[in-house]
Amino acid sequence: MKYTTIQEAMDKGGGEVFIRGWVYRERGSNKIKFIVLRDSTNIIQCVLKKDNFEKTWGEIDKIQIEASMTLKGTIKKDERAPTGYEVDINSYEVVGESDSYPITKDQSPEFLLDNRHLWIRSRKMVAIMKIRSAYGQAREEFFKKEGFFRFDTPVLQPMQSEGGSTVFEVKYYKQTTYLAQTWQLYGESAIFALEKVYNTGPTFRAEKSKTSRHLSEFWMVETEVAWWKLPEITEFAKKEIKYCIKQVAEECAEEFKLLEQDPKALIAMTKKVWPTIKYREALKLLKDKAGMSVKFGKDLRTIEEETLMKQFNTPVVVTHYPQEVMAFYKPKDPEHPDEALCFDMLCPVGLEIVGGSERSLDIKEMSENLKRDGENPEDYEFYFDLRRYGSVPHSGYGVGLERVIQWICGLDNIKDAIGFPRTMLRWTP
Ligand code: 4AD
Ligand code: MG
Repeated sequence: MKYTTIQEAMDKGGGEVFIRGWVYRERGSNKIKFIVLRDSTNIIQCVLKKDNFEKTWGEIDKIQIEASMTLKGTIKKDERAPTGYEVDINSYEVVGESDSYPITKDQSPEFLLDNRHLWIRSRKMVAIMKIRSAYGQAREEFFKKEGFFRFDTPVLQPMQSEGGSTVFEVKYYKQTTYLAQTWQLYGESAIFALEKVYNTGPTFRAEKSKTSRHLSEFWMVETEVAWWKLPEITEFAKKEIKYCIKQVAEECAEEFKLLEQDPKALIAMTKKVWPTIKYREALKLLKDKAGMSVKFGKDLRTIEEETLMKQFNTPVVVTHYPQEVMAFYKPKDPEHPDEALCFDMLCPVGLEIVGGSERSLDIKEMSENLKRDGENPEDYEFYFDLRRYGSVPHSGYGVGLERVIQWICGLDNIKDAIGFPRTMLRWTP
């Protein structure tokens, strides 16, 4: 007889089944043992009766949580069982015994992070990891359909890109190099060959902030397109996020329910128009609706992003942030030189999920910005070359994968949006 998954066994609904997995829960008396078995697909209740296992009852009695097993028996509907089915077991094998499992009820978040390698087996983490996986697969589908090329770039980079204050230095033989803060500068190089490119890669920021929305290592989905300007790139960013969320909400309805999120509401949200407003309009909304005065010239802080987004029930694109606080490659708007041709997308809970812009084509302006930020323009010669040999207008953006997962899964902390989080205070296991 062949193994099936637990889900397949339940879909079959009757007759003989052969399943394998790990003990999720166990309880028993001296006559009967209940084992709730889990595999990657679901959980199911199994019963082992002493009458059928006189010889090995001693072994069965000792089976602990997280032991791995194979089990054969007859499946039937049972309203009382956790997932509506029960298997009456007639043979079994313990494949790997389990020591007393350290994770019991009501553990502190820090304890669970110390035992992350075990905690990822929990139903909550499994649901999140499945949603994350589905999101990644949807994203690949989206870009393929849209005619983009996937372009892989180095993680070790000779320059700082997004500003030196959050860069991780790496000893590189006898030199120093940095962990990628962004894929962008290499993505920009590739558009002159491939025109529409994207990728997803690990991204590193030595963020000193210990917030619930910052990781030191996160995954960014980046896109760069030749010829496009701000209006096209912002609409495309909306299209990407809408597509991915709709796919994932359809595919992972059960996982969202387990996380107490409503997949139907997510799908409905993808069918609405997502507004685009200017930073200056955002300041006005903050003032008029919340009595909050923010001076032109500052990036929006968490409290301001959250307050602004209380006015909306879909994501919103905010464009034209003040040029002087933006990364060196974001160009001035020729009509309003104090504003940059850039955008962020904020989601309804107030998280910045996307950041992007048109790219400056002006070497002199970029050199000045770099000097303003304390960097050496000479390190960016390869990037300036892109403006010397057949330059074209172009734009791009980066999506913070964990931010999107945090939002759609309703997570308090971004750490749960990734298998093994890295923050200022957490780099193990
Ligand atoms: O706004 P950022 O810094 O933009 C860039 O790096 C551009 N070079 C992207 C591009 O145009 N190709 O980062 C993009 C997104 C943010 O909107 C946010 O969602 C996420 O990446 N992000 C972080 N997520 C988790 N932890 C952090 N420390 C993050 N920093 C940025
Ligand atoms: Mg940003």
